[in-house]
Amino acid sequence: MSKSQSERLESTARELVAPQKGILAADESTGTIGKRFATINVDSTPETRLAYREGMFSTEGLSEFVSGVILYDETLRQETSSGKTIPELLSERGMIPGIKVDTGAKELAFCPGEKVTEGLDGLRDRLVEYVGLGARFAKWRAVIAIGDGLPSDTCIDVNAHALARYAALCVENGLVPIVEPEVLMDGAHDIETCYEATVRTQRAVFAALAVQRVPLEQILLKPNMVLSGTDCREQASVHEVAVQTIRCLKNAVPASVPGIVFLSGGQSDELATAHLNEMNRIGGFPWELSFSYGRALQAPALKAWSGEQANMAAAQAALHKRSRLNGLARSGDYRDELEAA
Ligand code: 13P
Repeated sequence: MSKSQSERLESTARELVAPQKGILAADESTGTIGKRFATINVDSTPETRLAYREGMFSTEGLSEFVSGVILYDETLRQETSSGKTIPELLSERGMIPGIKVDTGAKELAFCPGEKVTEGLDGLRDRLVEYVGLGARFAKWRAVIAIGDGLPSDTCIDVNAHALARYAALCVENGLVPIVEPEVLMDGAHDIETCYEATVRTQRAVFAALAVQRVPLEQILLKPNMVLSGTDCREQASVHEVAVQTIRCLKNAVPASVPGIVFLSGGQSDELATAHLNEMNRIGGFPWELSFSYGRALQAPALKAWSGEQANMAAAQAALHKRSRLNGLARSGDYRDELEAA
């Protein structure tokens, strides 16, 4: 790989976690966006998906807080009403286009209740095509469940191996890989159980990245936060979540990784912002801590839109607000009172 390509990837990775900014995850698969649209009684068709996403990406001033947008295959290829492609629209508006390249999590053989993410076959050729279509970074999500005896070492190992295979191919082909091992929040487990599963997973991921010679300066990590399980009776405070998440990252993530961009994973939009804010308020770590939220950025906007073009301005205002508040959380300057303003 040429020196200039590694420099370019390092600088793209740093641009994605520039101060005040984070990533908008808008890469819902056709199935997932269908479920989101069903909550607002909107039919999911290529046209409605394009109308919603083109509207979101055209939000005035979004690039002040959003550095890049993760797209789904269909969206990367769609043309806007003015004849531009979606990647062209994003680039013109000062945001970096990215692409989800995994093909989904499937049942893992001999490991009931666990999944492995697929999509490695033919990946090199798909990455070359995605670069040609304007993508500059990529995403691959592994899913790890907590349960009785779970996660198994098998599940962690196969997913870490696949994440590293994907990351190596991305760097080889000129895309910054976002490496996403998501330990799910579903369950009645406590925060310490989440800590143990998350630190084990992240350590395995970085061991696999090392075996496969992935240059860590050219990647971003997209982890879950360390949280109490959704059904746990005692929910950890915002401060405790921040402390345990930082402790986990410090025990697993090398300092050469430029940035860590959290997923929201089903947290409420306000809690996702408060948790990120508290981590940055505490400080004392070597990486940029930022966001790559899907639901926590889009939920209020989706509701405001409800499938009506006439509501698009209100939807854009809702996306702009969540992006701005998460932008403030990048420096620990978010306050609850700003929600009402
Ligand atoms: P959520 O923030 O809704 O978890 O989505 C982020 C994402 O990209 C999951 O892969």
